[in-house]
Amino acid sequence: MSIAVELRHISKRFPGVIANKDVSMSVKSGTVHALVGENGAGKSTVMKILYGMQRPDSGEILVNGQPVHFKNPNDAINASIGMVHQHFMLADNFTVLENIILGSEPKRGITIDFAAARAKVVEMAAQYGLDIDPDVLVEELGVGQRQRVEILKVLFRGARILIFDEPTAVLVPQEVDDLFKALEGLRAQGMAIIFISHKLDEVLRVADDVTVIRQGSTVAEVRSKDVSARQLAELMVGSELPKPSTLGRTRREQITLALKAVSIPGSKGGRDLISNISFNLHAGEVIGIAGVEGNGQAELVEVIMGLRDHSGSVEFNGSAIDGLSVSGRHHLGIGLIPEDRQRQGLMMNSPLWENRILGHQYGKPVMRGFVIDKKSTIESTRNIMAEFDVRAPGPEVAAAALSGGNQQKFIVGREMSKAPSLLVASHPTRGVDVGAQGAIWELLRKAREAGMAVVLISADLEELIGMSDRLLVMLRGSITAEFDPAKTTPEQLGSAMTGAA
Ligand SMILES: Nc1ncnc2c1ncn2[C@@H]1O[C@H](COP(=O)(O)OP(=O)(O)O)[C@@H](O)[C@H]1O
Ligand SMILES: [Mg+2]
Repeated sequence: MSIAVELRHISKRFPGVIANKDVSMSVKSGTVHALVGENGAGKSTVMKILYGMQRPDSGEILVNGQPVHFKNPNDAINASIGMVHQHFMLADNFTVLENIILGSEPKRGITIDFAAARAKVVEMAAQYGLDIDPDVLVEELGVGQRQRVEILKVLFRGARILIFDEPTAVLVPQEVDDLFKALEGLRAQGMAIIFISHKLDEVLRVADDVTVIRQGSTVAEVRSKDVSARQLAELMVGSELPKPSTLGRTRREQITLALKAVSIPGSKGGRDLISNISFNLHAGEVIGIAGVEGNGQAELVEVIMGLRDHSGSVEFNGSAIDGLSVSGRHHLGIGLIPEDRQRQGLMMNSPLWENRILGHQYGKPVMRGFVIDKKSTIESTRNIMAEFDVRAPGPEVAAAALSGGNQQKFIVGREMSKAPSLLVASHPTRGVDVGAQGAIWELLRKAREAGMAVVLISADLEELIGMSDRLLVMLRGSITAEFDPAKTTPEQLGSAMTGAA
């Protein structure tokens, strides 16, 4: 693969700040190359330099192997570089077609050849999978479609090297999927794509290569398949992130949860969904449940939460609770972080304060007698947000407006606010960013120290090993192995999960 762009030791100083100091990166044709770094790391500056909007103080730029010295964006455009801006620069009262050709109109004599331009735009749109109606006014378009117009505009000028500066910041998830499909189409056509982002899950999804910059300097250039989000984040911040680790034992004498020969028969004589499960969980102890998804973990959670008929018995703090309803169990002090937070844990379109009530429709601070106490619910929502670092404008915003990590911290906060003596945590950090992950681990550690018992179900084996006091492996509905996490590797656990060990 040929190298489309090479930046060598680029430096740029503004009065009082060094924006870039020795940034190097090398971008191949036919690849998506991510540029990641914290806010202020210097990503936009170096891309403005590549696009001719800023002049570097020192360093070299090579395009297709040739040194270039751009004085302005026109020079960059002539060298087949295009920038898809984060804040779109389209004229609202013009059509899509007019916006795309604006500034580079094909002429026939002195008149614009609209027919030729139109044909070219329609062809490009089809070729790259950037579906759009050329005759609609831009003011009628949503953000995702405007971005498509920006991309087509850049392609219309002949760009083969495309710069996207935080293109997903303004998009909803569906639009992100569409953009990524378009990026894959562009890559397949041999374009070189530079994708700036600080969302590492997106970077790992879409990029072939990743350059990490920190405080203005390149600190790493890696293949995305060789790194985890965690490693990238550590490169970005330059220090180790919090690790899943419980540090010392806090297990107490008291048995919080006891399962005694619990089974759920399968339908029509099929094998049991879960079979003869027994264990004791002490106060201040974390039991980790490992297993390939679909081996009975979800049913185990349902049994503990009172959502499933079963044989055998479940005891909580010494008494059988088999007859108790879900809300009765909540009331007793059993909290749940559900597996699917968007479907089971939150009402996405309702404000946070209403979500505060979910599963807690009894007693203070949510209820006063039989009516909801809105004022005190809002107050308590505010407290949860402050204490559990839920970043959102306030209790009135809809749950859907929060990032995944903040939604999860809210759920954890809501469950912890009751100081439960037992927490069933199903994939508590799945899909959240590394910062929120560290915060959730810290919350679990503190609660465990205060005597809370935890059933932890996770597909993240490092999380299971790091956070648990004991590990049980579930396979086809049974507990088939037990491990001491202090002496277990993810590989050993993985083999046990598939029944290979
Ligand atoms: N035109 C400018 N004048 C002065 N300082 C700037 C200018 N552009 C960027 N900076 C500073 O340079 C640093 C890097 O900014 P930027 O490249 O925008 O970072 P990023 O895109 O990674 O968030 C920041 O400290 C920023 O404030
Ligand atoms: Mg920027």
